[in-house]
Parts: sequence; C-alpha cells; structure tokens
Amino acid sequence: MLVALLLLVLALSNEVRVNGERGGRQCGANPSLKPRPHSVSILEFGAVGDGKTLNTLAFQNAIFYLKSFADKGGAQLYVPPGTWLTQSFNLTSHLTLFLEKGAVIIGSQDSHHWDVVDPLPSYGRGLEVPGGRYQSLINGYKLQDVVITGNNGTIDGMGLTWWESFRSHSLNYSRPHLVEFVASNDVVVSNLTFLNAPAYNIHPVYCSNVHIHNISIFAPPESPYTVGIVPDSSDNVCIEDCTIATGYDAIALKSGWDEYGIAYGRPTENVHIRRVHLQASYGSTLAFGSDMSGGISNVVVEDAHLYNSKGGIEFRTTRGRGGYMKEIIISDVEMKNIDTAISATGYCGSHPDDKFDPNALPLLDHFILQDMIGTNITIAGSFAGLQESPFTNICLSNITLSVNYASSTTWNCSNVFGFSDSVFPKPCSDLDNPSNYSSSYLSMLSMKGKTMVSGSVSMKK
Ligand SMILES: *[C@@H]1O[C@H](CO)[C@@H](O)[C@H](O)[C@H]1NC(C)=O
Ligand SMILES: *[C@@H]1O[C@H](CO)[C@@H](O)[C@H](O)[C@H]1NC(C)=O
Ligand SMILES: *[C@@H]1O[C@H](CO)[C@@H](O)[C@H](O)[C@H]1NC(C)=O
Ligand SMILES: *[C@@H]1O[C@H](CO)[C@@H](O)[C@H](O)[C@H]1NC(C)=O
Ligand SMILES: *[C@@H]1O[C@H](CO)[C@@H](O)[C@H](O)[C@H]1NC(C)=O
Ligand SMILES: *[C@@H]1O[C@H](CO)[C@@H](O)[C@H](O)[C@H]1NC(C)=O
Ligand SMILES: *[C@@H]1O[C@H](CO)[C@@H](O)[C@H](O)[C@H]1NC(C)=O
Ligand SMILES: *[C@@H]1O[C@H](CO)[C@@H](O)[C@H](O)[C@H]1NC(C)=O
Ligand SMILES: *[C@@H]1O[C@H](CO)[C@@H](O)[C@H](O)[C@H]1NC(C)=O
Repeated sequence: MLVALLLLVLALSNEVRVNGERGGRQCGANPSLKPRPHSVSILEFGAVGDGKTLNTLAFQNAIFYLKSFADKGGAQLYVPPGTWLTQSFNLTSHLTLFLEKGAVIIGSQDSHHWDVVDPLPSYGRGLEVPGGRYQSLINGYKLQDVVITGNNGTIDGMGLTWWESFRSHSLNYSRPHLVEFVASNDVVVSNLTFLNAPAYNIHPVYCSNVHIHNISIFAPPESPYTVGIVPDSSDNVCIEDCTIATGYDAIALKSGWDEYGIAYGRPTENVHIRRVHLQASYGSTLAFGSDMSGGISNVVVEDAHLYNSKGGIEFRTTRGRGGYMKEIIISDVEMKNIDTAISATGYCGSHPDDKFDPNALPLLDHFILQDMIGTNITIAGSFAGLQESPFTNICLSNITLSVNYASSTTWNCSNVFGFSDSVFPKPCSDLDNPSNYSSSYLSMLSMKGKTMVSGSVSMKK
C-alpha cells in the first residue's frame, strides 16, 4: 500500500514538474537577447553622475526619444559609471536599460516630489495607507519586450527615509517600489544589484513571460517589510540564479487582496524558481500570499538555499481571501538557522476594508515538499488550516530537519490533511494519513489524463 502511494507521489511530482518546465520554459532555455541596433548614453541627455544633480528629466527625455526606435528593433539606454540621482521614470517597449559596472541609479529621498498613482485594481487601495501609492522608481506600464540589465550596475532605492516614515506612521501614501512592471509581456531583469528598496524590489503585476536572473538584492535586516521579488497576478515567470537578503520576504508570490483580488481574478501561475540563495530576516524566504485572492498555482521551486530567517517556506492566507494555492512542488532545499522551516496558516493577513466577504474561503491543496535538509531549525512545521476549509493533500517526502535546543514543539497541526514519507522529526499524524491521500491523488492524476506511474518513476531516477 505504502509503496504504491509513494509511486503515485513520484508520478505526480513528475507530472507537475513537467508542467512547471513548460510554464517556465525560459528557465530552461537561456533567452538569447538580440542586441539593440541603436544605443544612446544618458550623458547625451544632459545627465550628471555626481549623486547630487537630479536626472529625472534626462531619463524621461532619453526614453521619450528612444520610443521612436520601437519599430526599428528597439534601442538601448546606456548608463555609464557614476551616481545618477533621479525620481521616478517610465520605460518604453523594445527598450534595454543597461547599467555599466560602477553605474549606480539612486532614488530621490524627497517624498514630496514623488508622483502618486492609483491603487492597483486587484488591491483596491494602497498596501500600507488607504488611497493611492507613490509611483515606483522605475516603471513599465503596458510594455512589450523590455530589459533592465547591465554589467553588475546598481539600482539603489535609498530606502532609509521611507523606512523611517513607515515606522513613524507618517506616510501619506503607500511606499514606492524600486522596479514595477504593470501589464507587460516579455520582461527581463538580469546582471544587476538592487539595494535599499523603499518596499518591494521587483514587482511584476499582471505580466506574462518574466525572466529574472543573475541578480543580487540586499536590504538591511531591520528594513520594514522590504521584499525581494514579488510575482503578482503574473504568469510564466522564471527566477533563477539570484541572491536575495531582505528585511521581510525574499520571494513572495501574490495575486490580489480580498474582494478586489477576487473581482480582478488574475492568478499567478506557471512559476519556476531555481538556484536561489535567500535570506529573509523577519519574514520568509519563500512566501506564498497572504494576498492570493486571484489564485496561485503550478509553481515549481528547486535548488533553493535558505538561511538566517524567521520562516523558510510559508503559505499565508485568511478568511475573506477566496482564491487558492495549489499544485506547488518545492524540492532540493537546504535550510540553515531558520525559526520555522515549513508553515501554512489560514490566520495571517489583514483586510483592505470592511467590504470583504468573510465566507470567501481560500483553498490550499496539493503541495509536494520533498528532498529537504535543514540544520538549526526551531520549529519543523506549523500548519493551521481553517476549520471550514482545511488544507488538503500536503505531501512531505524525504525531509530531515535538525531542530535546535530552543525547540519545544517540532510540529503543530490543525485542520490539515496529508501524507508523509521519510520525514524527520516525525510529523503530526494529520500529515501522515495515507487514506486521505490516495483517492485525491488518484483523482488528480486521472484529471491530468495520465496513468504514468511506472514511466515517471523511471524518469525520476
Ligand atoms: C508614467 O506612467 C504612469 C502610468 O503607469 C502615468 O500615470 C504617468 O503619467 C507616467 N509618467 C510620465 C512622466 O510619463
Ligand atoms: C552575472 O552578472 C555578472 C554581472 O553582474 C556577470 O559578470 C556574470 O557573468 C553573469 N553571470 C551569468 C551566468 O550570466
Ligand atoms: C555585484 O556587485 C555587488 C556589490 O555592489 C557584489 O556584492 C556582487 O558580488 C557583485 N556581483 C557580481 C556577479 O560581480
Ligand atoms: C504628509 O503630508 C503632510 C501634509 O502635507 C506633510 O507635512 C508631510 O511631510 C507628508 N509626509 C511625508 C512623509 O511626505
Ligand atoms: C548577463 O551576463 C552574461 C555574462 O556576461 C551574458 O552572457 C548575458 O547575456 C547577460 N545577460 C543579459 C540579459 O545581458
Ligand atoms: C541558530 O539559528 C538562530 C536563528 O534562528 C541563530 O540566532 C543562532 O545563532 C543559530 N545557531 C547556530 C549555532 O548557528
Ligand atoms: C533526499 O534529499 C536529499 C537532499 O535533501 C537528497 O540529497 C537525496 O538524494 C534525497 N533522497 C532520495 C532518496 O531522493
Ligand atoms: C499551535 O498552533 C496554534 C494555532 O495555530 C497556537 O495557538 C498554539 O499556541 C501552537 N502550539 C504550540 C505548542 O506552539
Ligand atoms: C481523511 O481520512 C479520514 C479517515 O480515513 C476521513 O474521515 C476524512 O474525511 C478524510 N479527510 C479528507 C479531507 O479527505
């Protein structure tokens, strides 16, 4: 019986992995970027790289000029070494923003000069303060084929003043992000370093075909709610070869907030994350939700190194969210110095306003967490499902966590059903119930129209 179940688990894991590969094909095949036939330097637009001169107009004018090359193969805006102070500017389609080694774009710290834009429709209001939000430092709105890259140049949000305003509750609008793409397709961010974001570092929202690779992101451990990469209501996203250390989450997948996210109805799906080194001092290295009202599905994470964080892998949701988080496979994970290695909670997150529907229950189903090893872990797993909507089909396989002396509870479970195999320390019995597992996995396999048990096991090894 148990062997048969294990074969099913392996079969399913290959099944979703195959889908994940298809979804994140960019992760597999290196995208070969066509060089842009035209290139101009920001110097040609009067920019001064002294760290004091405000270069907003230079960026805006350069990009306005480069718009005219959109139908001629696109163009590159070259940023040479220097410190380039600017406020928010907008990118255009078929553009490459290239930051040379030693080029540092820094964000202006004077919030009075930042434009305020409407809230995102899937959130209904600013995240931190009701109403509008400050426009992000670098923006893409309804673009095609846009690249931000370089030879390890830096984009520095100079977040300190924003963090202080956040802490002292003196923000008039929600904090800006460092880079945001809205409703854009074929987006690449690579070969750069991002520092001191006011809030999120890279926020693709309502986007398709996003490839983020070979970047470093750093924000101080105490910077409030700074997040590395936030794929939000976006699909076909690949994140690979990235090193991220932030105050809150390192990578957070989201899809809208309560009634606004449900109405907007755009999921985050087909996401492939691999070869990442993540630290999230006061959040989680890999977070799902809590804003997930549009749904999150078909996510494959592999080869992840998670360190020095409050949470390792965390699924967050709450009543009123609606939506789902399902078909998520996380494998080949190394964790070190983490408080709670794996958690899923139905009691996390606030509401945008009092118009949310408390009967909109989130669904959490079909997760596979496998091939993990952890050292200096305080709590191995904490699962708190909703009574009316328990978390189901959680599969844990080949996980070894060494818990530290501070540990009093290693697993804490309520309203969760799943199956485990070769997990140490031994999980709660709710996660070890084969009868809950077999029928639903069988139905999922048949749903996918395949009976591939033997085939996929030989594929795996
Ligand atoms: C930048 O794009 C936003 C839309 O995202 C728009 O509201 C704003 O006016 C644009 N700013 C400039 C300077 O073009
Ligand atoms: C990563 O980016 C750096 C510059 O930031 C570059 O030197 C290096 O070759 C890149 N590595 C890969 C694998 O693209
Ligand atoms: C890029 O620069 C940052 C510091 O700005 C450094 O920490 C990182 O190692 C560099 N990455 C590469 C690939 O050179
Ligand atoms: C918020 O608005 C008030 C009144 O306009 C202003 O005095 C204050 O400096 C603003 N705060 C920030 C952080 O911009
Ligand atoms: C990143 O750097 C590597 C090595 O220099 C290069 O092969 C690759 O094309 C670069 N990526 C982009 C998007 O420029
Ligand atoms: C264990 O991890 C905690 C953080 O969770 C850290 O404070 C402590 O120093 C680590 N201990 C060792 C021996 O690395
Ligand atoms: C169990 O997971 C570890 C990584 O944590 C991996 O090295 C090992 O090969 C896995 N064992 C099996 C039987 O897949
Ligand atoms: C287990 O979780 C519940 C709610 O999720 C919490 O109230 C309780 O304190 C936890 N128990 C332990 C021993 O950590
Ligand atoms: C789990 O299994 C038990 C006993 O086999 C059954 O009563 C319960 O309904 C199952 N729960 C789910 C969510 O499948």
